[in-house]
Amino acid sequence: MTATDQQRADLLALRGALGSFATGVTIVTTRVEDADVGLTANSFSSVSLDPPMLLWSLAKTSSSHEAFMAAGHFAVHVLSVDQEHLSRRFASKDVDRFAGLPLERGPGDVPLLTGCAARFSCRSAFHYEGGDHTIFVGEIVGFDHTPTPPLVFHAGKYALAAPRAEPLGAADPARVPPTGFAEDLLGYLMGRAHHQLYDRMRSELAELGLGEREHFTLSVLGISDRRTLDEINAFTAYTGVTLTREAAADLESRGLVRCEPAEGGPRLSLTDAGQQALLRLVAAAKAIEVDALADLSEEEGRLLRHLLKRVIRTTDPGIPDLWASRQERS
Ligand SMILES: Cc1cc2nc3c(=O)[nH]c(=O)nc-3n(C[C@H](O)[C@H](O)[C@H](O)COP(=O)(O)O)c2cc1C
Repeated sequence: MTATDQQRADLLALRGALGSFATGVTIVTTRVEDADVGLTANSFSSVSLDPPMLLWSLAKTSSSHEAFMAAGHFAVHVLSVDQEHLSRRFASKDVDRFAGLPLERGPGDVPLLTGCAARFSCRSAFHYEGGDHTIFVGEIVGFDHTPTPPLVFHAGKYALAAPRAEPLGAADPARVPPTGFAEDLLGYLMGRAHHQLYDRMRSELAELGLGEREHFTLSVLGISDRRTLDEINAFTAYTGVTLTREAAADLESRGLVRCEPAEGGPRLSLTDAGQQALLRLVAAAKAIEVDALADLSEEEGRLLRHLLKRVIRTTDPGIPDLWASRQERS
């Protein structure tokens, strides 16, 4: 390794170490000589409450450096979780960063972006030498904020801010019986959540005169039609419910599926009536889901799905991927 290779490796390692500090993401804007200027920055920090001050640092090589050195005012926008696209845009070269964005104007005619978690309008108070960066300290002359969760940046990637769950073991010891069956046992939590959700689904199914087995069958065929009994049972093996030839014949006699003879048993497909029943069940499932997640933010809902998918992957005994099987067929 040459000296420069070594220096480069050291720099990367330093960057990696600094990246272990999770930050929010901001866009800093200003206006100089009738031009709007702005860039993505995560070097933001609060400095002082009285007087109210903040800081951020800007690479001396940045095309915006001269403008911010000359600016009397700037604004710091703390991005919300759904503004990752703005962060990317304001970190890209050779794009019109402000094109098409709704703008308000702050002190010094500085452009103010909308939909942010927080915004701070500043009078440019001090510049400090900071190696290859200049540190800008601003006196906060105006601010606003919303309850929208912020965008997070950690280890070079965008991330989500989620409140920490109660630490394990924090459960009230008086509520842990001698068997150790505490109320935060994962199987209990997931099982109970499933049964409480599915209970409402059962009433919907009952109105259609259907049970779980029929529900699972229609659902499989709704994703990947023309499946044999064995294939349907392989996709739903995790439920412990099996579709028998008799049950398939019953679904056919009720006009919900069509059975064509095939090697090793009938091949089922949805009839129009089956499609209609399934549409109704999916609509009911969506309504149940909206009610179940009412207490969670959009981000928490996304995180819950993401974590459940990971648990499903980790515990998968080898169930074929139903959604992928659909692509294979089309
Ligand atoms: C998440 C993130 C944080 C950044 N933070 C800073 C920063 O604090 N200071 C800085 O000078 N550049 C930062 N950058 C880089 C600039 O946004 C980007 O390099 C710059 O805008 C490129 O164009 P320019 O030379 O026109 O400024 C960051 C980029 C990203 C994606």
